[in-house]
Parts: sequence; C-alpha cells; structure tokens
Amino acid sequence: MDIKFNKQKIPHHVAVIMDGNGRWAKKKGKMRIFGHKNGVQAVRETIEAAAEMGVKVLTLYAFSSENWSRPKKEVDTLMSLLAASLKKEFKSLQKNNIQLRAIGDLNNLPNKARKELEEVIKKTLNNDRMILNLALSYGSRAEIVNAVKSISKKVVNNELNIENIDEKTINNHLYTFSLPDVDFLIRTSGEQRISNFLLWQIAYAELYFTNTLWPDFKKQNFYDAISEYQKRERRYGKTSEQIK
Ligand code: IPE
Ligand code: IPE
Ligand code: MG
Repeated sequence: MDIKFNKQKIPHHVAVIMDGNGRWAKKKGKMRIFGHKNGVQAVRETIEAAAEMGVKVLTLYAFSSENWSRPKKEVDTLMSLLAASLKKEFKSLQKNNIQLRAIGDLNNLPNKARKELEEVIKKTLNNDRMILNLALSYGSRAEIVNAVKSISKKVVNNELNIENIDEKTINNHLYTFSLPDVDFLIRTSGEQRISNFLLWQIAYAELYFTNTLWPDFKKQNFYDAISEYQKRERRYGKTSEQIK
C-alpha cells in the first residue's frame, strides 16, 4: 500500500454494491456475462485493499433477491461463476487469514454454489484478520420480515416481553446480528440508490457513489473512496463543536 491513511479513521465495516458489470460488457460490444467474469478481479482487488488497510468487515452485494428475476441464462452463469470463484479463491482467503461469511436466503442458491459456500465458510471459520461477508440472494426487507417473525415467535412463547424489545433486539435477529453497523457504503456504476441493501445497518453509514463500473474498480479506486471517507465528519446528530 503506497498511500498513508489515518489509522484512527479506517472504517470498521465497509459495504459495497458492486454494480455495472452489464454496462461494462455492453460498452465493449460483449455479452453481460463477460462483465460478470471480469468483475471477479475487482472483487479480489477490493478484498486485498480492504484487508491490507485494516478494515475488519467487508460486505459485498453479489446477488440480490430481485436478481432472481433476470434471464435464466444470466442467473445460471452467475451461480456457476460464484461456485467456481469460491473454489478458486479459497486458498488466497486462507493465506490472507480472511473469514468468509454469507447473508441472504441461502437456501435459494443452487446446490453446487451452496455446498461450495458452506465448505469455505467452515474452513475459514478461525481466520480473524477480516470478515468477508457475501450478500447472496439477499434482500433487506426480507431480512427484516424474518426478524419480525422470529421476534414475534419469542413473544408468543413468552420468551420475550414486548416492553423489552429495543433496537438491539431487532439487530440480534438480522442476518448480520454479530456484525457492527456499516460505516461506509460504496456503490459503483453511477447509480445512486440502495437497491434493498442493508437498510437497517446503514442508518448512519457514510455513502459514496462513483461512476466507475465494477470491472474497472481497482485498489486505487478503493483508496480514493477511503480518502473521501476520512474527510467526512460523522456527527450523529451532534454539532461539529461537540465532535472536536
Ligand atoms: C452488478 O452488475 C452485478 C449483479 C447485479 C449481479 P449488473 O449486472 O447489475 O450490471 P448493470 O447494472 O446491468 O450494468
Ligand atoms: C444491486 O444491483 C444488486 C447487486 C449489486 C448484487 P442491481 O443492478 O441489481 O440493482 P438495480 O436494479 O440497479 O437497482
Ligand atoms: Mg446493475
């Protein structure tokens, strides 16, 4: 890493909406899938850059619950690409002491991808340099609905008193229960929307939008994003004077 960052201001949890693969391919006169394949290198660079910098949790939005509505051929290729990448990248996760986790409706994944995922999760369980959290078949509203259901069950079974429900209760019933809130959210490709990603968890995240299409996203792009984050003042409702 060639640039010096303020070590005190490295975001603990960074989340990324990796967008723009299709447009990247189209610009080159290729099929959308070509963009997805070339997006894998950007994933590698981002993981490496984040780990080297001391980010503790990196959540990558790889496939949304809405993405199931894409043409079957694209979905199938994305799922094969996921399984193949997990197989291929396992060694480097291990070498870099990175723990893999996943959030989303993982039961919807095809067997091969799910098995591969479960295996890498199991094998990297004791790694503790950074958590790489993949959002797969993920939808934030579905996650919240699930949380409401499990909390309701506990209330009905007298395991939980309504008066004791607080923000922590909700947090503890989300897929991300053991993870800290998102500090910094990056979205590539110029779109400025959240697309059903981590709605609860980004309540006070700093947002960063870049026009770079995902397959063009390199370590330097990640550094640029972090430099921008370090210039922000997170006030949490207080005045600037109170922060200083
Ligand atoms: C992001 O790129 C990857 C996934 C959503 C799986 P897109 O496939 O959304 O690319 P664009 O937005 O169509 O360019
Ligand atoms: C969001 O991107 C999901 C992922 C990056 C995996 P989309 O391309 O699916 O989102 P929309 O359709 O532009 O909102
Ligand atoms: Mg897109």
